[in-house]
Amino acid sequence: MTNRLDGRVAVITGGGNGIGRACALKFATEGAAVALGDIQADAAEAVAAEVEARGGRALGLRVEASTRADNDALVAAALDLGGGRIDALVTAAGISHANYWSGDVDADVKVLAGALDYLERPGWDFVDTDIDQVRRVIDVNLIGTMHAMQAVSPVMLDAGRGSIITIASVAAKHPDAGPLGYTLSKAAVWMLTKKAARMLGPAGVRVNAIGPGFIDTSMTKITELFPDEQRAQLMDSIPLRRKGEADEIADCAVFLAGDESSYFTGAILHPDGGFFTD
Ligand SMILES: NC(=O)c1ccc[n+]([C@@H]2O[C@H](COP(=O)([O-])OP(=O)(O)OC[C@H]3O[C@@H](n4cnc5c(N)ncnc54)[C@H](O)[C@@H]3O)[C@@H](O)[C@H]2O)c1
Repeated sequence: MTNRLDGRVAVITGGGNGIGRACALKFATEGAAVALGDIQADAAEAVAAEVEARGGRALGLRVEASTRADNDALVAAALDLGGGRIDALVTAAGISHANYWSGDVDADVKVLAGALDYLERPGWDFVDTDIDQVRRVIDVNLIGTMHAMQAVSPVMLDAGRGSIITIASVAAKHPDAGPLGYTLSKAAVWMLTKKAARMLGPAGVRVNAIGPGFIDTSMTKITELFPDEQRAQLMDSIPLRRKGEADEIADCAVFLAGDESSYFTGAILHPDGGFFTD
């Protein structure tokens, strides 16, 4: 299917890699112009160039998600690109831990090694959790999502329409699906989504979340280094017995951005291979 987003304009944070990148490419295929923000400016620019090479319209900007000024700059650039309109926002910028850097598995290896140490000392990982590191994850994942939503909302309120799509996680509801700070941040993103749906709904703006399961991106590369037993447990928890693809999340985002989801707001879709079946 193509042209479901013909003539529309989308802002995508975290658009340089993984799920955000897949959303950018799929939105463009469906006819939307896309403004991409990412802390990795080169990655955002590369995705924008990829969209343009395929005949679409895009721009890529360096955006630190946790700052309002950067989100405002992204929205201003999107308005320029789109001739004053913005129809959709996807907030895909995110980190799994404070030192996460998309594509750099070494930082994840250190976190994994630290976590394994605690297998012999149950409970002490909670006591030793560094609150400043938790704060950084919340700053990017939750505050960053809210900054982007607040930056884009005035445009949508003026237009009396718009679709905001947050990227939560199964970790919003399941405490085992990520580190402490990550699960806290994603639970809060889900509540933010519901709250904003109630606040913006009367003005015609829809707000929905996607809560992916285990998706094949840089964020999950570390699981390839899990001990065999843990990797088997992870796969056993997924009825479809495979990781999801970033493209499968982008399909949900296209649905939520487009007219086919016109009566959805305050919902969370879980493309998770059946993880939530208990
Ligand atoms: N991969 C999964 O299994 C999975 C599951 C559920 C939810 N998610 C969520 O999906 C979103 C995208 O993650 P992904 O799996 O595509 O990983 P990814 O690493 O491929 O993409 C994350 C993107 O966010 C960017 N980013 C990180 N910190 C940023 C910051 N401070 N400011 C701006 N951009 C920043 C990264 O540079 C990267 O481009 C995240 O919110 C993640 O929590 C992922």
